Amino acid sequence: MSAKKLIAANWKMNGSRALVEAVVQQLTYLSPDVDVLLCPPATLLPLFPASRHYALGAQNLSEHEQGAYTGELSASLISETGASYVLVGHSERRQYYGETDQLVCLKMQQAVSSALTPVLCIGETLAERQQENTEQVIAKQLAAVYASHPELLANSVIAYEPVWAIGTGESATPEQAQATHAFIRKQLAQYDAEAAAKVRILYGGSVNAANCNALFAQADIDGALVGGASLKPSEFMQICQSAKD
Ligand code: 13P
Repeated sequence: MSAKKLIAANWKMNGSRALVEAVVQQLTYLSPDVDVLLCPPATLLPLFPASRHYALGAQNLSEHEQGAYTGELSASLISETGASYVLVGHSERRQYYGETDQLVCLKMQQAVSSALTPVLCIGETLAERQQENTEQVIAKQLAAVYASHPELLANSVIAYEPVWAIGTGESATPEQAQATHAFIRKQLAQYDAEAAAKVRILYGGSVNAANCNALFAQADIDGALVGGASLKPSEFMQICQSAKD
């Protein structure tokens, strides 16, 4: 587990110039005891002034380095906006855009080869949890990347986002999340024990100012990936402040 927590905002397909300004303004008052990552739509990335208060990330990248792939963004194009992170394999990408584990692995490699830190998103659906397949699903999603490329782990952030908790208002309980995070760290140890002990594992899924404290108190929860609440600057700031050690 990492000393400093990381609070990441995933704006999804939301936001505006005005929201950029409001969030930048709020984060000016942020304490240095927490790391913050902002992942707005890629077109907004260049509007953020460089700041010691936050890092920037994209929400997706192409598995290709360059070429005739209309509408896609390569890792190096993302880097040139000033971003240093990228979300990979978000459940919405897996669900709506057919991203497979194999594609996710290629994207992870592209990210790291362009010095972007990938935030690998994993998590089970409601049906998978009800069938008690959570661990199996997660183990498979991790193996698809790290069994063949264990060297990626030292440069990764992991985000555990149970699909049933995303945008539903129903967060996993702190105990449920902790149990899965501990399982994730144990699984990762078989690929690189040293990196597994240090990798930041974020929880995502209906995180808000009211439930974040109990989540952050768990031993293996190293921060959060926040969707809806990250669109409200003062609530997002509250979540960031709660993550101070
Ligand atoms: P919500 O916080 O809106 O549930 O979204 C979580 C998420 O998908 C972040 O990537």
